[in-house]
Amino acid sequence: MDEMRARITKDGIRIYEDADFVGMRIAGRSAAEILDAVAPLVVPGITTAELDDFITAEIARRGVTSATIGYKGYKHASCISVNHVVCHGIPGAKVLADGDILNIDVTVIVDGWFGDTSRMYVAGALARKSERLIEVTHEGLMRGIAAVKPGNTFGDIGHAIQSYVESQRMSVVRDFCGHGLGRVFHAPPNVLHYGRAGFGPVLEEGMFFTIEPMVNLGRPETKVLSDDWTAVTRDKSLSAQFEHSVGVTATGCEIFTASPAGKFHPTWG
Ligand code: MF3
Ligand code: CO
Ligand code: CO
Repeated sequence: MDEMRARITKDGIRIYEDADFVGMRIAGRSAAEILDAVAPLVVPGITTAELDDFITAEIARRGVTSATIGYKGYKHASCISVNHVVCHGIPGAKVLADGDILNIDVTVIVDGWFGDTSRMYVAGALARKSERLIEVTHEGLMRGIAAVKPGNTFGDIGHAIQSYVESQRMSVVRDFCGHGLGRVFHAPPNVLHYGRAGFGPVLEEGMFFTIEPMVNLGRPETKVLSDDWTAVTRDKSLSAQFEHSVGVTATGCEIFTASPAGKFHPTWG
């Protein structure tokens, strides 16, 4: 390992060591495999509670730990956000209908390392406007990831996402952001999905964080329902989100949560 890298930056961002990438790779892969495994169950007629039950069982079967059960009083192994739900949808009695789009977000802990990822699914047939929203959101995430390399800034990541999404006449949610992670779930910095090129903390090799843009077909404003978790678009427009956990390398970044089955995007695999 590189002794100089075991430190916290002036922005409070932990710099991890080479060996720590191994732990993140294992945790990220576990979370991604769980999202791969749930895909065939996403069909019209199933409830979001049934999808969460499957995820809970998968987590147990693998001998890993859910990071969300017990987190700030949250009781489920996943967040499932359907249609105009932006994020933090609580699994429950909702029955999926043909054409519903949904984000499933899973975070697991493996040997103390956190793997956090989410992706979009569709129940039944994917409508044209939903497909475009999903495509633009996925492309926004990938453009943000492409901006991850030492010397760039967090503002470069946000700018890459925002400029692309707005060029497609969709909006980036401001009320929720990505986050540092590693041996903790949520750590500095706040990873904004909008911003100005050249602004914000400078990226360094050994930083671990998520990028998880939420994109709306309508306006960016959200509100949280009375359950204190479910965030929805104020204008009821459709919303989509994709999330990867990444680590900054010498030349770019490693995606810890890539789909082993090649199913990260709902029209793939
Ligand atoms: N996995 C979410 C994230 O991307 C956090 C979910 S917290 C919960 O940061 F309590 F709502 F599960
Ligand atoms: Co996250
Ligand atoms: Co997440």
